[in-house]
Amino acid sequence: MTDLDQLKTDALTRIEDAPDAAALEALRIEFLGKQGSISGLMKTLGKMSPEDRQVQGPLLNGLRTAAADAIAARKEVLEDAELEARLATEGLDLTLPAPAMPSGSVHPVSQVMDELAEIFADLGFSVATGPEIEDDWHNFTALNMAETHPARAMHDTFYFPDHDSDGHRMLLRTHTSPVQIRSMVDVVAKNSGGAPIRIIAPGRVYRSDSDATHTPMFHQVEGLVIDRDIHLGHLKWTLETFLKAFFERDDIALRLRPSYFPFTEPSVEVDVGWQDVKGRRVLGGDGDAPGHGWMELLGSGMVNRRVLEFAGLDADEWQGFAFGVGVDRLAMLKYGMDDLRAFFDGDGRWLDHYGFSPFDQPTLSAGVGAKA
Ligand code: PHE
Repeated sequence: MTDLDQLKTDALTRIEDAPDAAALEALRIEFLGKQGSISGLMKTLGKMSPEDRQVQGPLLNGLRTAAADAIAARKEVLEDAELEARLATEGLDLTLPAPAMPSGSVHPVSQVMDELAEIFADLGFSVATGPEIEDDWHNFTALNMAETHPARAMHDTFYFPDHDSDGHRMLLRTHTSPVQIRSMVDVVAKNSGGAPIRIIAPGRVYRSDSDATHTPMFHQVEGLVIDRDIHLGHLKWTLETFLKAFFERDDIALRLRPSYFPFTEPSVEVDVGWQDVKGRRVLGGDGDAPGHGWMELLGSGMVNRRVLEFAGLDADEWQGFAFGVGVDRLAMLKYGMDDLRAFFDGDGRWLDHYGFSPFDQPTLSAGVGAKA
């Protein structure tokens, strides 16, 4: 046997015996790589006499081809074996239950708005909406805040460069109260006699303000009732009934304090009693008892007759009450979150924890609270 034959037999045997892909690759480099032994022999062809080259050339080429073919063949065998081994160990059991699909969750703000709509629907209120980009008249002037009114300074308003037809800059509404005006103007337009009205108006509002309890965008729900002979007692009963249903307890105590809003007269700030339960403030109980307290919850009052007149209603015939409350704050008090900013971060983990099942619709009969 010539040296070349010997080399060929050795190479093919070793390739044939390569136990895995890594070993096979090492052999490919050893024989056919740039510094490989067969490649080295090929280089010697250049230095041979033409006669020798004519004899050796075909032999060396044959050796190189045989080695390359053997490596390709072995590679295929090893890959097949690997696939067989995986098929043997990785069984696929089609009878196993499928993994749960992510179902998404309902944001606590949406949940609370649904709860409010449910509670107030039962009291005969419908849901009204208005634009978030408002004009000055609806957001301020018709609510009895003339241009120089100091109460305007209490709202850190975001203005647009665009002007409305009165030459005032357009703005992001600072509260849901402009929906009061829109609802009254609507009802006057539809029916020249005006009123009655029973609406709630939940939605986004904007103020230039930001810390743990204030975000530049937040949510309010406005309530408005216009009818004949409406008085403060109707307001108190409605708020009491709403808060008892919302917090799902009967021992909700309210304290009405005189206050000031330009669009209500008289105006009342409503506090609700809370008690300390293991260091947490839980609503309910008489706020004056030891270990109990009062927290300010919402603003309200009898609709100022100037506002009725701005909207085109006869203030001698129609009276009403209005209230406004923070939806985010209601959610925090009911479901125990303490940082408002997390509401609007869009963090999936927070939603996994505080979100609600889309199948858990609030109903008065089954309880408006989420079943968790
Ligand atoms: N719009 C008031 C606010 O944002 C709340 C309010 C609404 C007060 C309706 C009285 C009546 O602070």
